[in-house]
Amino acid sequence: MSYERRLARASELVREAGTLALASFRNASLVVETKGVQDYVTAVDRAVEALLVDRLHADFPDDAFLGEEGGRRTGRAGSDALWVIDPIDGTTNYAHGLPLWCISVALVYAGEIAFGLIFNPVSDEFYCAVRGQGASCNGQPIRVSSVRSPESARIGMGFSYRCPPALHVRDIGRLLEAHCEYARLGSAALGLAFVADGRFDGYWEPHVNSWDVLAGICLVREAGGWVSDFLADDGLFGGNAILVCTPALQSFLQDQLTTLDGTA
Ligand code: IPD
Ligand code: CA
Ligand code: CA
Repeated sequence: MSYERRLARASELVREAGTLALASFRNASLVVETKGVQDYVTAVDRAVEALLVDRLHADFPDDAFLGEEGGRRTGRAGSDALWVIDPIDGTTNYAHGLPLWCISVALVYAGEIAFGLIFNPVSDEFYCAVRGQGASCNGQPIRVSSVRSPESARIGMGFSYRCPPALHVRDIGRLLEAHCEYARLGSAALGLAFVADGRFDGYWEPHVNSWDVLAGICLVREAGGWVSDFLADDGLFGGNAILVCTPALQSFLQDQLTTLDGTA
């Protein structure tokens, strides 16, 4: 199957969705609803997801959808295309007026990530990766960093109350003991994009959902990075741990951090 039409249409729509979200960014009257412990949603998250799903469905009516705010929409029997959409990744940052949030869209075809798009409308950075064809930001090819030693590395880390806080504290401690820096941005998708373009040397989170990371996984792979097997054990629908990094840091990070199923 050729992804060209889907990639072209999704790229247009992700930019349009970014413009929509940017128009309400830092709007003092934005209503923020709570979904769980430190887990938020706004009308903008829902509007962006509706824009993407409705327009993509109109153009590709056979395809299935998995969006964070709207749940699942099944496709036509026999269709192997599934869109995985996080309308705003980093909603807490968005709601607090911090510029670290993005729109993340991946196409899964026959069980493989065919392409991934991540757009930060505030910095106007548009990341794109196509399986087997490389990764880019604003049209320029990107690569993971060449950092080899933990002492010069900076690892993005994520946390949600889906996991015990003690696990996160322990993982931070392990990195610091090894003189390896860490940062928590509040957007897993941007964390992965920053590994792909070399701003981070790795990203770790003991549980994320597929809409948080599938586009970023495609970016890191195509930028030459190592990626854990996120889709194992029903990661697509149930989520999983995610570790991505430069190939040189793989064994250090696997040794130091929590086991990949998030258990102690
Ligand atoms: C969250 C962010 C956060 C990560 C969480 C995600 P949301 O997504 O990516 O950085 O640590 O696991 O749930 O709620 O902002 O879309
Ligand atoms: Ca998310
Ligand atoms: Ca979200």
